[in-house]
Amino acid sequence: MLFKQQAWLRQKLLVLGSLAVGSLLYLVARVGSLDRLQPICPIEGRFGARSQAELPLRALQFKRGLLHEFRKGNASKDQVRLHDLVQQLPKAIIIGVRKGGTRALLEMLNLHPAVVKASQEIHFFDNDENYAKGIEWYRKKMPFSYPQQITIEKSPAYFITEEVPERIYKMNSSIKLLIIVREPTTRAISDYTQVLEGKERKNKTYYKFEKLAIDPNTCEVNTKYKAVRTSIYTKHLERWLKYFPIEQFHIVDGDRLITEPLPELQLVEKFLNLPPRISQYNLYFNATRGFYCLRFNIIFNKCLAGSKGRIHPEVDPSVITKLRKFFHPFNQKFYQITGRTLNWP
Ligand code: A3P
Repeated sequence: MLFKQQAWLRQKLLVLGSLAVGSLLYLVARVGSLDRLQPICPIEGRFGARSQAELPLRALQFKRGLLHEFRKGNASKDQVRLHDLVQQLPKAIIIGVRKGGTRALLEMLNLHPAVVKASQEIHFFDNDENYAKGIEWYRKKMPFSYPQQITIEKSPAYFITEEVPERIYKMNSSIKLLIIVREPTTRAISDYTQVLEGKERKNKTYYKFEKLAIDPNTCEVNTKYKAVRTSIYTKHLERWLKYFPIEQFHIVDGDRLITEPLPELQLVEKFLNLPPRISQYNLYFNATRGFYCLRFNIIFNKCLAGSKGRIHPEVDPSVITKLRKFFHPFNQKFYQITGRTLNWP
């Protein structure tokens, strides 16, 4: 009897022991792989300040914790400053295009440990009142970051606003500019859908897309309609090219960012001279949303808000054909200027 009990005890101890050793080995491997996966690397290339120092994951987590406490009012500005956190002007801006996927692009780039996003659209360069407040006002709107990191902001109105290229040029003539585009007709319908939703929320009636996009007198495409004009990408880009060389722009395929985000993000990492850090682990397809969502780590993941990925109204196919024919020559010019062919119809 005693012998049986001893054998049972020995067996239990053996199982417990191997479990403990196994968990320890797993933890060591896990921490090791996380540190390997997500160090902050120096940003090379045209971006001024460069440092060889790498920030370990723990420092990043500490920073996020500190900033969280700061926002809650539990940490002072001095404490934040003490840890080398600064508010930096953006080194890259997502200048447009509205409804191209600008939010998705910003959030996905923010997965990169060397990128810090400005959460809100700042509208500094397109809004005269904001612009008059000066560059320090703009800088103060930026999130805290380590000097080795880069800040990115997005304000899609920049792309189509006359004064913006010159104003951005005056701030930083070597800034990197990201433009995310979608097939022009789809983008115009997405633009219309957003406005329509706003009207419906206020219990207002609104015209059908067909009525706005086609001039009833000529039966031709209505180029006065803003949603149509915004989709003539080449016209807007030409204004920007008066200030910046084409090498300073990177075109993101917004349709591909929806279906296959990783390769698009890898192209952006390359353009920004960032080491490749965003991986398939960070992006997972959510069947309920019908879109890719973001995974920051084993605990934290998120999908974009419900206002991203609306259901578009049905549009008369003959209007779609007419619009596509209208955009075709502008698209060809856009491919030619940018060197990126997007196979739009
Ligand atoms: P729709 O609402 O027409 O589908 P923006 O952020 O510039 O306003 O762009 C909104 C568009 O981003 C959405 O347009 C949606 O298709 C697209 N998008 C791209 N990736 C997305 C994602 N992962 N989740 C939600 N929407 C995404």
